[in-house]
Amino acid sequence: MEYINNELHFGPDKKNLMSLCANYIRPIYVYDLAFITQRFKQLATALDGVRLYFAVKANPNPQVLQCLKLAGAGADVVSLGEIKRALESGFLPEDIVYSGVGKTRHEITEALKLGVLQINVESLPELERIGQIAQELGKKASVALRLNPDVSIQTHPYIATGLRDNKFGMELGLLPELSQCLKRYAGSLELVGVSLHLGSQMLEFSGYQEALTKLKASFLNLKKDFPTLRRFDFGGGLGVVYEKSELDLEARLLNEYAGITKGILADLNCELQSEPGRWLVAHAGVLLCQVQYVKKTSAKTFVIVDSGMNHLIRPSLYEAEHRILPLLKNPESITCDVVGPICESSDFFLKDYSMPVVKEGDFVAILDAGAYGYSMASTYNLQELPLEICI
Ligand code: LLP
Repeated sequence: MEYINNELHFGPDKKNLMSLCANYIRPIYVYDLAFITQRFKQLATALDGVRLYFAVKANPNPQVLQCLKLAGAGADVVSLGEIKRALESGFLPEDIVYSGVGKTRHEITEALKLGVLQINVESLPELERIGQIAQELGKKASVALRLNPDVSIQTHPYIATGLRDNKFGMELGLLPELSQCLKRYAGSLELVGVSLHLGSQMLEFSGYQEALTKLKASFLNLKKDFPTLRRFDFGGGLGVVYEKSELDLEARLLNEYAGITKGILADLNCELQSEPGRWLVAHAGVLLCQVQYVKKTSAKTFVIVDSGMNHLIRPSLYEAEHRILPLLKNPESITCDVVGPICESSDFFLKDYSMPVVKEGDFVAILDAGAYGYSMASTYNLQELPLEICI
């Protein structure tokens, strides 16, 4: 992302973003596929030997998925919709790991018929349900137990998942009952893995380290009863630096994360799996939108754009801060709230933000919007969904 002759350029070929606004009708997510491939390679190198399953929920754009499939990723999915999208985008059933706390009978039946690689089970009744359905279908389901280690990580509470008061995963105390259930359905369930996902946007790893150590012990215990146990899925969650894109700092954090992971898990001599989402795609996307009004009140200056929480809900939901740059550089700056058209006071991107002066009709880019942007967009207020372009 850089200004060349005062115009903002993005991506490996330094695409002039203004050129994408020539026939502008509504906000556009722009994704840089080469950057996604580069991030995948960087992650795969740091986590050498780990099979990476891209968390489709972060960005289910078909071209993004094709790009990641081509780079060598599998797909981590949480619904039949995501399974279908992954298959349409070129993933094979054996590339797919299926997680999620609320899998319906229909979804489990379809997943088993398709033959997905692994179902990450989130509760005892779900394990029971998968056992029954597999039995009815005359299939053997490959399951991994998603365990909840009751460990906290430093992140927004809405995206922490590894504490016992979170709905995700199963408490370690449940292992005896889970073992019994697996034995009861020995003909239709095969325990292949243990899985973990502590939450998202993790930039500090002491909780992660603690969780891996706990789950390693559980893995070794389970292995005694279930010799088929052969995979350890340590989830996703590696964070990115939003405030300013500091790729060097991220590379250091990645190395720390990889070092902890390998240090604890290497001697399990099992297949290692990970489910990264945000880290691969966040920086590879921008949301382009247009200034509609600059509204001054006695308290504030509001820059009102034609996109809002309907297109990028992260600021409203998690107090996330995405930097905003105008496509045309202006040496003068203003302090303003950048807000959207939606009828909610929570519809803002940034508050008291110092940015170059913009006027009605100008275009701005909201940065680092490649993860959980379009995938969480809605038509609230019956506003249209944004467009998507891959470069
Ligand atoms: N695996 C599982 C089971 C997950 O639930 C998630 C994300 C991931 C992997 C990928 O996590 P990542 O590497 O992207 O952190 N909408 C929120 C993030 C929600 C994450 C949900 N689960 C946000 O915009 O920050």
